[in-house]
Amino acid sequence: KIKIVTIGGGSSYTPELIEGLILRKDQLPIAELWLVDIDDGAEKMEIVGNMAKRMIAAAKLDWQVHLTLNRREALKNADYVTTQFRVGLLDARLKDEVIPLANGLMGQETNGAGGIFKAFRTIPVILDIIDDMRELCPNAWLVDFTNPAGMVTEAAIKYGKWEKTVGLCNVPFGHITQACKVLGKEEKDLYFKFAGLNHFHWHRVWDQQGNERTAELIEKIYSPEQQERTDEGLKNIHQIPFYFDQVKHLGLLPCGYHRYYYLQEPMLAHAVEEFARYETRAEVVKKTEARLFELYKDVNLNYKPEELSQRGGAHYSDAACDLIASIQNNSGKLMVVSTRNNGAIADLPFDCVVEITAAITSHGPEPLRWGALPPAARGMIQLMKAMEETVIDAAVTGDYGAALHAFTINPLIPAGETAVKVLDALLYAHKAYLPRF
Ligand code: NAD
Ligand code: G6P
Ligand code: MN
Ligand code: MN
Repeated sequence: KIKIVTIGGGSSYTPELIEGLILRKDQLPIAELWLVDIDDGAEKMEIVGNMAKRMIAAAKLDWQVHLTLNRREALKNADYVTTQFRVGLLDARLKDEVIPLANGLMGQETNGAGGIFKAFRTIPVILDIIDDMRELCPNAWLVDFTNPAGMVTEAAIKYGKWEKTVGLCNVPFGHITQACKVLGKEEKDLYFKFAGLNHFHWHRVWDQQGNERTAELIEKIYSPEQQERTDEGLKNIHQIPFYFDQVKHLGLLPCGYHRYYYLQEPMLAHAVEEFARYETRAEVVKKTEARLFELYKDVNLNYKPEELSQRGGAHYSDAACDLIASIQNNSGKLMVVSTRNNGAIADLPFDCVVEITAAITSHGPEPLRWGALPPAARGMIQLMKAMEETVIDAAVTGDYGAALHAFTINPLIPAGETAVKVLDALLYAHKAYLPRF
């Protein structure tokens, strides 16, 4: 029997997770489920926690559900610890978006200056959680959904020395679904290989006969005549079409987040418009979240409401629950996860974390060898990885020079006066959550 602990239990995504666990009840011998939050999230956890209990009761399962603000009590003897917390809640995200935008830079949850600051706030917390785990559940798996998931996973493995950490994202799910739709196939009839970093990966697709279908997908999704098919189902990314010739030249399918880099200017222009209307994503999400919690309060609601699909992270439970079930049952299932590279992507260091297709075993993910990337992708990914490594260095040490270097390397931040100004403003705005700086 297993004990699962979810940190950030007050998240509006919790019903996703519960639904995913219920769907896999035959693969998961669950005894206890613990939701953990902090004072600021206590009310949310109470509401969504009761909703979770109703869902489990409706499924006639005998799982014990505990809600607590005491992380250490929850972690004792845990088998799987999942994280879905947001340090500073949506007000912190709003600052990550607005402060860069007010200075003419992209402000986004996981990209540019805002994404760097989300890492600065989150990495010290994940390292604290790991300190508790070392003492209270030394054999547990840490399944990280908390963003920026790739950097958080790398910090956990490299600095927290928690080898049993796996990071997750729902973006690959969106691309798999899109490819199935465009080719008129089911997932089981296609073979996918993803490689890159979290929110910065590419993929290739083959059919059951071994024919590569990547070029056809590029044509069908990105050629100007077929642009209505561009949508990969991400509610939070403005769907500006990629340049067809550029994608064709690469010969790999990009992920939705590549727009921030391949289409830096129009993406920024769009974000600036949203900012001018006081409608950055944090603002939109605050409203969605408020509506969701009104629904969750309804004592008759015992299933995941449709409204949750308005959130960018929709379907993440499929990844989280598949991962846990695959580790638990040593299934060897192929999944896209953030895990240690181990040479799978030849262009990146062995010990860095990459997002890649891996076979999930009881000893963790075994990434499929990808090989080398074409130069156009190689140059960018090496830069992005060095940026991530520098962000993590700064988050751990609180070194201002490292933080400025991370800003300098990041392609969405011009170096010099603006970088310093935005860095200083964000350090000041987030002071309460940055004890190491
Ligand atoms: P949220 O704002 O609802 O926060 C979730 C909960 O975390 C809140 O109840 C909050 O009180 C709690 N929390 C904050 N600090 C905490 C701490 N130190 N310990 C325990 N709990 C704490 O956030 P959300 O919108 O549900 O998103 C949760 C996280 O998941 C974010 O980090 C977000 O970026 C991430 N996310 C990841 C993906 C992905 O693809 N990996 C997709 C969507 C969201
Ligand atoms: C995406 C991603 C997440 C991202 C989130 C934002 O699709 O995979 O990592 O941060 O959704 O969703 P939100 O609804 O909070 O804007
Ligand atoms: Mn993601
Ligand atoms: Mn820069």
